[in-house]
Amino acid sequence: MILNLNYTRRDSAASTSSEVVSTFLSLLEEKQITPSQFAHLHIYLDWLQYKENFREPVSVVESEEGEESQESASPRMDVRIDTRQIAPGTLRGTVEQAIYPEKREQCKRGDRVYLEEFGSFRASIAWDFNRLYWQRLKDWESVTGRSYEKELPGGSSDGHQPQAIADSVERFWKLLNELDKQGRLPQEAFILEIGVGLATRAALWLDQFCALDQQHGTNYYPRIRFLLADYSLASLERSRPAVQKHLELCSFIALDALDPTRTLSFLRHKILYVHSSNMYDNLSDEEVVWRDNRIYWVEARAYLSAHNTERIAHECDISAADVPRMIHRLLEVGAEALPDRRKGMAFWMQIWKAMRLEEKLVDAIDLPEATFPAGLSSAQMEDILKDAPSDLRFHLSSGALESFRNTLPLLHPRGYLQVQDIFVTNLHEYSMGFYGPGKLGGSIVNWVNGALVREVAERGGYDVHFVPFPYRAGSKTSTLYTTRRE
Ligand SMILES: C[S@@+](CC[C@H](N)C(=O)[O-])C[C@H]1O[C@@H](n2cnc3c(N)ncnc32)[C@H](O)[C@@H]1O
Repeated sequence: MILNLNYTRRDSAASTSSEVVSTFLSLLEEKQITPSQFAHLHIYLDWLQYKENFREPVSVVESEEGEESQESASPRMDVRIDTRQIAPGTLRGTVEQAIYPEKREQCKRGDRVYLEEFGSFRASIAWDFNRLYWQRLKDWESVTGRSYEKELPGGSSDGHQPQAIADSVERFWKLLNELDKQGRLPQEAFILEIGVGLATRAALWLDQFCALDQQHGTNYYPRIRFLLADYSLASLERSRPAVQKHLELCSFIALDALDPTRTLSFLRHKILYVHSSNMYDNLSDEEVVWRDNRIYWVEARAYLSAHNTERIAHECDISAADVPRMIHRLLEVGAEALPDRRKGMAFWMQIWKAMRLEEKLVDAIDLPEATFPAGLSSAQMEDILKDAPSDLRFHLSSGALESFRNTLPLLHPRGYLQVQDIFVTNLHEYSMGFYGPGKLGGSIVNWVNGALVREVAERGGYDVHFVPFPYRAGSKTSTLYTTRRE
């Protein structure tokens, strides 16, 4: 049996790992598992830092082909244990429930209500819930009584940190000043913020830029054209009052961050500064496993336990059989899906909380139609992975990569892209921590695979570097800067 410890928290490592080992040894001793099964067990101990997530405390990740060993018929079995969710004294029962095929079959037949077929997580219904949350954020906030910022670790957005904004303003002013001295300052200085939310940062940024400009007497402020972009029309509408003082410089643009150039093609090579904060970690994502020099796709399907389905149906006055249909209605029209709006909100929030993902690994060879994000071929991926540890599960950050690639064409030759977010900048980190998906409020969070972003950028002629966020102690944020290579 191989035990992989995927976290570095000393406090919980010793107690859970010894309990896990003794649980499997007792199962062997009691002949509940055969020596051959024992020999092919791979246990992964995780510690999920997101309290709300898509994982059962113990889950088995199926391999489509079941990697058979030469000398025995026992296939490899991957068992993932979230040590944070294991309550004292419950490990054995939870493990038995998860690993015995007959129990799992029972689950598949009647114990789980599946909301979709297996596929890459990127296409999961979970992302429709994520979108619903941003489109109808006010509804959610009015039930919880908390703004979305309060859901973030630390209770506020690093995107709104005043000193970080002051430094960003100064950097931009310096760029304009340099262009001015060279006689190359454009008449209109375009700035684009994507995933602008309620425009708290945009407002602070414009206030500070206006003040700095006045202080220097440079009169750049009237040239600013600030584009506030988001795919949530409701948020764009709510963001207007925040920038009231600067309205004549602002445009509110509904666009999908996955392809900003599509909407803004008329600004190709014109934007001097593109910014986003806490948005890349919210774009659709998927995972792969690098094992024995091969790539496996992690396929997922969302489900609810039958128990939760019945409970939620009962609380919301609908039949359990009607839950899947009602979910689709919810995704179309929001809480009005149910005649009683209050129950509609409860339905949404409870379904989201209860949603879990079942996973299986599929060899990339069996999925010829599955493609890596644009900008990365399989040969490039293998090159990137040549020094990576074997049996590494990592994020492709497909949405973030797509957004990144489709934003670069907008940049002015002297322009830059700044992304403030949570990044994994070295692939090795994936074997030492959990990087999503987690649930924050009604949204999804995945750390961004910065190592892949850097590869894509460098191969496309751009320089990328990451700078830790020095403005808040303990912050996990870093800032990615991209400029065109000289
Ligand atoms: C976590 S909030 C961040 C808001 C703000 N930037 C901050 O730092 O507080 C994510 C924002 O990204 C927007 N967003 C998510 N996916 C998007 C997409 N595909 N296209 C455009 N905006 C998106 C959401 O509507 C939301 O306003």
